[in-house]
Amino acid sequence: MSAREVRIGLLGCGTVGRGVVELVARNTDAIAARTGLRPRIEKILVRDRSLSRGVDSALLTDRPEDVVRNGVDVVVEALGGDEPACSLLTEALERGKPVVTANKLVLASHHDRLLTLADRRRRAFGYEACVCAGVPVVRSLRHALAADRLTSFEGVLNGTTNFILSRMEEGDPYAEALIEARRRGFAESDPTNDVEGIDAALKTAILCGTAFGATIPPDRIPREGMTKVTAADLAAVRRWGYTIRLIARAELDDCGDIRASVGPELIPQGAAAARVRDEENVLIVHGQSSGDLIFQGRGAGGGPTASALLSDVLDAAAKPDTPAPRWRTVKPAPARPTARYLRITCAAPRALPRRWLDGLTGQGVEVRRIEVARCPEDERLRTVRALTEPCEDDIVDRIAALGAPEDNLIALRVQNPARKS
Ligand SMILES: NC(=O)c1ccc[n+]([C@@H]2O[C@H](COP(=O)([O-])OP(=O)(O)OC[C@H]3O[C@@H](n4cnc5c(N)ncnc54)[C@H](OP(=O)(O)O)[C@@H]3O)[C@@H](O)[C@H]2O)c1
Repeated sequence: MSAREVRIGLLGCGTVGRGVVELVARNTDAIAARTGLRPRIEKILVRDRSLSRGVDSALLTDRPEDVVRNGVDVVVEALGGDEPACSLLTEALERGKPVVTANKLVLASHHDRLLTLADRRRRAFGYEACVCAGVPVVRSLRHALAADRLTSFEGVLNGTTNFILSRMEEGDPYAEALIEARRRGFAESDPTNDVEGIDAALKTAILCGTAFGATIPPDRIPREGMTKVTAADLAAVRRWGYTIRLIARAELDDCGDIRASVGPELIPQGAAAARVRDEENVLIVHGQSSGDLIFQGRGAGGGPTASALLSDVLDAAAKPDTPAPRWRTVKPAPARPTARYLRITCAAPRALPRRWLDGLTGQGVEVRRIEVARCPEDERLRTVRALTEPCEDDIVDRIAALGAPEDNLIALRVQNPARKS
């Protein structure tokens, strides 16, 4: 069978773009044999053409029009950031090109404009690479589960923070775990987007659209970072049968509103989200008919992300007029009461546990377990750790009313609290 050539216009040649170039070079024959399509890189947009990147320099350009206005069949965006990515995707669609992107920021922020345009121009819009990189969650939700009603999902969607938490489980302090994540290329020099949960919130917004056909703006998803979690917290909760993961979750309620959150949570040790280690991702999706489905694998890196982009390219080339999805924007629903893990460090009067128990009970917070330990950094301080019964989201304010400074307190959600022992 002679394969049909698919000319790719590539925007960006960083970690992901280079991954696409390498994958095309390595697998073209196998892809042609399997699909009847032979991908070829036609042109690549970069900022700095003089940089050496192990790519045929004749392919490189610093003029966007060389890519989007050229005779390419599919435009692949791996630039990152808001602009010029959004304008170039728009221009490609206006010119009737199917597009494929790895850029979760652009999709989560501009889905209305981009997906509406793709729909109007009847051009495919692929975004598998935006969530869980090489793990095929988007096509599974969009196509394989199209007949089911998906009602909730939860998962570990950020590989950097999962790597850091896995290291902290072994006893490394946060700062050392972050250095190791940077050394291995999992964390950027500024890790804010990862450790503050911003990256996971963008992916949550995209998954909501994909799973529910409705989404909420990423900046309205209640979000908490993981920088206050310590190796001592991980050791303490392990004794209680838990570990800690940065969990993204969302649920479609009966009114069509979405309850979503991103933040560190206590997860029972045997749960799927607790078992996922290092830079891996996991997504557990609940469908009314299918029940729970688990997707797991490498959620970042040039190779897995390029694999997702290229499979979207092949889909788009085979069916360039595949209808783009449309997502309604809905209201975020208020959080449900959840059990909490509290940790407070304070000066050490004799009756400390009693005082905290009474104080919490007085605030309507029922405590199931409490433990007081010396603070290794300062003999005069004690660390109080407690597990509560489900309580309202304003718990931090109520505890602050007991005199605990907010920056000295964590109050993490607890999934399926273990029985009292
Ligand atoms: N890295 C991952 O593991 C991963 C996984 C999933 C999704 N993603 C997403 O994939 C996208 C790309 O990530 P990356 O890690 O590959 O980023 P990166 O390494 O920083 O690469 C970005 C590339 O885009 C080019 N570029 C950026 N702005 C440009 C502009 N204004 N004009 C021309 N070229 C420009 C850069 O050119 P120069 O090289 O000349 O600077 C570079 O080649 C992001 O949206 C990211 O969120 C990344």
